[in-house]
Amino acid sequence: TDNESGFLYNKYKDTLTTLPKEKGWLSESMFLYQGFWVEEGSVISAVDVMASQDSFQALPTDIYLATLPKSGTTWLKALTFAIVNRTRYNKTNSLSTDHPLQCLNPHICVPFLGMDSSHFPPSTNVDRHSPRLFATHIPYTSLPQSILDSGCRIVYICRSPKDVLVSLFHFTNKVRDKSLGVMTFEEAFEMFRKGMMPFGPCWDHLKGYYKAALERPLEILFLTYEDMQKDTVNNVKRLAEFLGYPFTQEEEVEGVVHEIVKLCSFETLKEVNKHGMVIADLPNDAFFRNGKVDDWTNHLTNEMSQILDEITKEKFDGLDISF
Ligand code: A3P
Repeated sequence: TDNESGFLYNKYKDTLTTLPKEKGWLSESMFLYQGFWVEEGSVISAVDVMASQDSFQALPTDIYLATLPKSGTTWLKALTFAIVNRTRYNKTNSLSTDHPLQCLNPHICVPFLGMDSSHFPPSTNVDRHSPRLFATHIPYTSLPQSILDSGCRIVYICRSPKDVLVSLFHFTNKVRDKSLGVMTFEEAFEMFRKGMMPFGPCWDHLKGYYKAALERPLEILFLTYEDMQKDTVNNVKRLAEFLGYPFTQEEEVEGVVHEIVKLCSFETLKEVNKHGMVIADLPNDAFFRNGKVDDWTNHLTNEMSQILDEITKEKFDGLDISF
């Protein structure tokens, strides 16, 4: 009821006032909630996280795409949407030219969990025959319990911390409110190394899902942006198989895998999304910058690079993660 939700909302707001607070990247402030920084200007606020923890109901057939911002969320959304819905948009053995991804931003096709659903056209999540697709930046340890209990599938994609920093830096200056001024790279670096980024620390976010994927390999698939770039075709096949939508031999022969890879490629999506807005003041093209691996080499000084290497080495000690 309205009364109950009003009560809960006030409770969350009260909690917020007790949390450590810092200046944000995209907005005035971010809060440290359950060990991670949540930005007020991010896709979901700390209040939204608390609300989804209290009331979100997962279904066993759901699929969750979990990421740290700027790690390949948009790409993974496009690929998953294209894989799961491929028979709906398949005409005469080739993906139809009126595929939603040829006119809609992947962020419209796959919503973020906890985000106000009024942002999304009703067409995307209503086919009751297909699983519900959601993305989330919520760290593993803070996921709503019903997601963990439902046994549904979670795909996590991560990216080299240095490239996450560079990507977030550019994204921030592109979309943040002009009143906040331009962020310098030094400023971005200082915040990042201290773990202060939306849903950071970066290393802890990654490690949480990495460990969970080792413990629950049937439910959690761990991918890296770098592997996806190196061998997109085989990783897309792996993704489809994990999701329970493996490509048939016939489809492979017909080139369906390659068509999906092409439809979701950086070049195609950048072209489709060069105009328009995702929502209110977020331009479509903000999610497609250059899509390269190791762009950090053009931004970090040797000293910055060494500092991040040290942190990464220490945080990932004993784990088999490489980029
Ligand atoms: P860069 O800023 O390095 O170019 P997210 O989707 O998590 O916000 O991550 C955005 C990053 O993914 C950006 O990186 C963006 O260019 C890149 N990206 C977006 N779509 C992509 C695609 N289809 N293939 C590869 N990279 C993509």
